[in-house]
Amino acid sequence: MTDSRARILAGNWKMNLTPGEAIEYFGALEKHMMGHARKSSVHRVIFPPAYDLGTDVQRAAAACQVELGAQNVHWEDKGAFTAEISPAALVALGIHWTLVGHSERRQYFGETDQTAAQRFKRAANTGLNVMYCIGERLQEREAGQTQAVLSRQLGPFLGVLKELLTKPGSARPDKQMWCLAYEPVWAIGTGKTATNAEAEEAHRYIRQTVWDTLGMGVAQKMSILYGGSVTTENVSGLMQQPNVDGVLVGGASLKPEGFARILASA
Ligand code: 13P
Repeated sequence: MTDSRARILAGNWKMNLTPGEAIEYFGALEKHMMGHARKSSVHRVIFPPAYDLGTDVQRAAAACQVELGAQNVHWEDKGAFTAEISPAALVALGIHWTLVGHSERRQYFGETDQTAAQRFKRAANTGLNVMYCIGERLQEREAGQTQAVLSRQLGPFLGVLKELLTKPGSARPDKQMWCLAYEPVWAIGTGKTATNAEAEEAHRYIRQTVWDTLGMGVAQKMSILYGGSVTTENVSGLMQQPNVDGVLVGGASLKPEGFARILASA
């Protein structure tokens, strides 16, 4: 991590915790955070299920200086898209963050590089901060295809980002945050985290790809988070890698005590 980029510590609750449990969680998190120094320069975001994005939960999260974000967002603001999440409605609700392209969306719900990029485009144009997820599967890593997969996944994302950055009057990344989360699928929920060296190697490749496509300025400002079996034990080592600017934590974000320690790690 370096001081020139935003540091972001995030939790993805996936399909866990009801609104009542979420309010309790933030009450406990606030208590556990009291023992730790809070750095104002660090962004803290939790992505709960959509039914936990209401104002009561937002208020409880704000007491811990945690922002809430959606786990997914649609590429239209409204229409006949049963069960999808409108970016405009998120903004109206006071939500400023969304995940896009999480591997579970890709694996179980047919998300593709193209649909993920469409979601990113609309979310960015609606004013949302976006955490765009990429990462290779085990068989792809074992076949030596990690970089090829990352390049393929980054292509449509970088195409949209280029459009956004060159469009006259476009929102600039210093006002809005558009960041990447590298989440190797083999490390998600498996307890088999990438080593510090494996994470750094992938992050360096991702940054180089952004650099090659959009130049040094964009690449140096792009925060890249690591996700996949992050715990209180391995978070510091990961955060010390020069190209790791934050973490996206699944299972370990569900326990307020442990997540408070992770939040104190940057
Ligand atoms: P785990 O931390 O449970 O491996 O999940 C990672 C993840 O998918 C975060 O988005």
